[in-house]
Amino acid sequence: MNESTTPPENIVLIGFMGCGKSTVGRELQQRLGYPLVDMDQVIEQRAGKSITRIFAEDGEAAFRDMETELLRELGDPSAPRRIISTGGGVVGRPENRGLLRGLGYVVWLHAPPAVILERTSKNRSRPLLQTEDPAARIQSLMEERRPLYQETAHLKLDTSGLCCDEVATGILECARYFFTHSP
Ligand code: S3P
Repeated sequence: MNESTTPPENIVLIGFMGCGKSTVGRELQQRLGYPLVDMDQVIEQRAGKSITRIFAEDGEAAFRDMETELLRELGDPSAPRRIISTGGGVVGRPENRGLLRGLGYVVWLHAPPAVILERTSKNRSRPLLQTEDPAARIQSLMEERRPLYQETAHLKLDTSGLCCDEVATGILECARYFFTHSP
């Protein structure tokens, strides 16, 4: 993105699986009245199957291609303001990181590995965590992705100990400041 242009006033949620992006996205949608784009849901609708099946039948690379394609579309400057909730691995591709920052105010929701493990163990919808040792997988993926979230986000918010309401309030206050002070 050309950093000298004002980014559109979307709020973009990034962060590891189970950090609360979808829940916080819905809370922001209610408070602001902006449409919510849940990228995982859009991809599932387009593919006509679950993420688990996309990974199993088409492979992870096909899923990542769909993520990048959707991010490119979301960059349409004529679109209304939105809340965009991403999948945890969206920051993996350098192109995606640039696209994300160009979309608006990027918020990294962070939670410690133990909290992530507890939240993600409740269902089997995440193919990357269907391993013998999900705790170790969470740890290594988090190490790998931490610098990528860091590089992409305008704001890092530790959600542990905060309820959804508090997280949403924090984001809105910071986003207002950001959008008022953007060049
Ligand atoms: C993924 C996270 C998932 C989903 C897919 C891959 C990842 O989204 O996009 O299973 O690579 O971390 P959530 O972060 O919403 O669970």
